[in-house]
Amino acid sequence: MNSPEWQKIEVLADRKYPVYLGTSLEELGAYLPALPEKVEHILIISHQKVLDLYGGRLMKGLGDYRVNLLVVPAGEAEKSLERLSQLTTAALGYGADRKTLVIALGGGVIGDLAGFFASVFMRGVRLIQVPTTLLAQVDSSIGGKVAVNHPAGKNILGAFHPPQAVWTDFTTLESLPWLEVENGLAESIKHALIADPGLFNFFETQVDSIKQRDPLIWRTMVTRSSSVKVKIVSQDEREQGIRGLLNLGHSFGHALETEMNYRGVTHGQGVSIGIVAAAHLAGAKGFISLAEVERIKQLLRNYGLPIAIPGQNPQALLQRMQADKKNQGGRKILILPQGIGNAVISQDCTDNEILAAWQQVISG
Ligand code: NAD
Ligand code: GLY
Repeated sequence: MNSPEWQKIEVLADRKYPVYLGTSLEELGAYLPALPEKVEHILIISHQKVLDLYGGRLMKGLGDYRVNLLVVPAGEAEKSLERLSQLTTAALGYGADRKTLVIALGGGVIGDLAGFFASVFMRGVRLIQVPTTLLAQVDSSIGGKVAVNHPAGKNILGAFHPPQAVWTDFTTLESLPWLEVENGLAESIKHALIADPGLFNFFETQVDSIKQRDPLIWRTMVTRSSSVKVKIVSQDEREQGIRGLLNLGHSFGHALETEMNYRGVTHGQGVSIGIVAAAHLAGAKGFISLAEVERIKQLLRNYGLPIAIPGQNPQALLQRMQADKKNQGGRKILILPQGIGNAVISQDCTDNEILAAWQQVISG
């Protein structure tokens, strides 16, 4: 691989797999012979927009391989059983078999959908994740979780289907709209808050460079943030313990997203508010100082992420949290920061404490 400064980190899970950072789309083809089993047929699953931008570069390196493209419309609604069935029909039409390799080229929606397809097609075929959004590069492409949605909820039908490799080309982020960048930034800041105080400090000191999309600074940001995810899933691939920390901000954020019917709030904005609510709760429990709560809020504010939600009803938001998948035996399981760069799983937060945290983000 010729790209300057590419690097490989490994997910040390049940089956070890590499995350390549800073490699180029054109070079993926040359890497495929390194897989344990020969590749003959490839299905690339992607969106038309992403294919228009990057399909040519990826295809260039795939030279003599038999490749078919499966194009999926953009949007969360496409993570559906209906789309899965259509992908299956199309794949069979192209003669896909157990040796087919699926390449997921896109953001988290493509990664989850193509990944779930790969997990069930012919009882499981190989998958390579080629993430093209910030969120996908630092988070969703790593760790093997794949899923589609069900009317009963997001990611209800899913599996663990770790890829053969994650292939991250930083240059794909150049075309990402800022609203999508924000979604990835919220997750990256979350990674810093739960496990990497140095990265938190980096986010504090590099605000302008990050906003101006300085390529070297982005390289560091993506590398450090994805390294947090790699480290955590390497210790707990199946989310029996420490992987749960990645949910910091998500129980609050998800409650807000559902309460607002997924309108007027993006996932990143929901996570940002959720992080602030978790920080207030942690502050009330004495896990972090008030100065640290302010530091967290200031950082999110600096990136244009919201830290307040005036006008919401705290009782309604608390009610939404009753349905959280992570609750156990009626108890709410919440992830709270403990200082900057560390977090804990808390099982003893009372409804009054949670309400008080919601009040804080409502009053701003
Ligand atoms: P997304 O996949 O919907 O992508 C956002 C938009 O950006 C899409 O319209 C897409 O076409 C476009 N896009 C993608 N790459 C682009 C590029 N390089 N330039 C310009 N446009 C580009 O959104 P997302 O935030 O990447 O992913 C969200 C999904 O990820 C959710 O479904 C969520 O459940 C899932 N997720 C999964 C995990 C996991 O561990 N499996 C973790 C976090 C999130
Ligand atoms: N995004 C949470 C996880 O992968 O576990």
